[in-house]
Amino acid sequence: MKILVTGGAGYIGSHTCAELLEKGYDVVVVDNFDNSSPKSIERVKEITGKDITLYAGDIRDGGLLDRIFTEHKIDWVIHFAGLKAVGESCEKPIEYYNNNLYGTLVLTDKMRRHGCKRIVFSSSATVYGDPEKLPLDESCKVGGTTNPYGTSKYFQEIMLTDIYKSDKEWTVVLLRYFNPVGAHESGLIGEDPKGIPNNLTPYIAKVAIGELKEVGVFGDDYDTHDGTGVRDYIHVTDLAKGHVAAIDKTVKSGVYTYNLGTGIGYSVLDVIHAFEKACGHGLAYSVKPRRAGDIAACYADASKAKKELGWEAELGIDEMCASLWNWQSKNPNGYKE
Ligand code: NAD
Ligand code: UFG
Repeated sequence: MKILVTGGAGYIGSHTCAELLEKGYDVVVVDNFDNSSPKSIERVKEITGKDITLYAGDIRDGGLLDRIFTEHKIDWVIHFAGLKAVGESCEKPIEYYNNNLYGTLVLTDKMRRHGCKRIVFSSSATVYGDPEKLPLDESCKVGGTTNPYGTSKYFQEIMLTDIYKSDKEWTVVLLRYFNPVGAHESGLIGEDPKGIPNNLTPYIAKVAIGELKEVGVFGDDYDTHDGTGVRDYIHVTDLAKGHVAAIDKTVKSGVYTYNLGTGIGYSVLDVIHAFEKACGHGLAYSVKPRRAGDIAACYADASKAKKELGWEAELGIDEMCASLWNWQSKNPNGYKE
């Protein structure tokens, strides 16, 4: 079985390619390297001892997609390609909607033309907006997103659902990720953010290696166990396995939605302390004002994925922090020399 992985050189994509190859799938990647390096693909080949066919280019390039679908009989597409920074999306909504929405339209149009109608889509817990209840299950209301990135995920879910409604041969799997963190156990692939990280765990890792001075804790007056924001952190390897489970287990056409999380919420301070254990020394932090747009707490009810896909997260916060520290200390400059 051959899988086209869009954005396969990126953080979650590279880990998913590794899991797919380990499971015996053939993998074709298309990536424009807007937020990644071709080195991640080389590293995945090193980890697995298997080959990947790589197309360097943009999913909005219909000619390129025609070439890929002509040169390969693709059974499934796993669609990671897109822009993902919440803050940046407020400054560049046109770029975000163009890449995320138009990219998905070009991709699905070419899939249809070439008779490939099975797609796994990278959605996000952000589609739930301010959670109506916790834990969040898949039937909770979606929408009410507060930034173009989140809105683009919400729109993409609707677009893919409408495509299925118009043509019942489609299989659409919407995977709503909670907070992916950590790195491959080899320390060869991991998250390599450009500039100063926006997300908590890459920021903590940069403080741990001494590149940044202290972690800013965005608010300590939330209604949570210690006042700091609570999230459902999920090991990227578990997340990657969730994609393989989706492909293995989804046999009938339709639209399927799954939360991929652990079901456990950890606060910012919990994560800082877990990382201190992983790196073996204390970390400087100080409380800052709340970050605009943040919610107090967000964690999943992931029982549907367990029941229907036979998938559940196996790794905990200590493994997440240890694997991130392993990657960060082995690759202090990420994929750069
Ligand atoms: P990433 O930026 O590391 O990976 C995205 C990849 O897509 C990059 O390699 C980038 O170069 C590529 N890309 C972007 N636009 C492209 C285009 N038009 N054509 C070809 N390639 C393109 O991000 P990630 O963290 O691996 O996220 C993967 C997907 O999961 C994204 O869709 C993201 O929105 C979604 N997601 C991520 C998180 C998270 O916290 N990391 C949470 C929920 C959902
Ligand atoms: N935080 C800090 N300091 C930092 C960074 C973050 O205290 O330097 C706090 C935030 O306030 C929040 C928690 O750490 O309480 C997690 O923040 P992240 O930025 O790491 O993650 P978010 O939950 O805000 O969002 C992430 C992705 C989104 C995705 C969402 C749900 O950035 O794209 O998870 O999957 F939609």
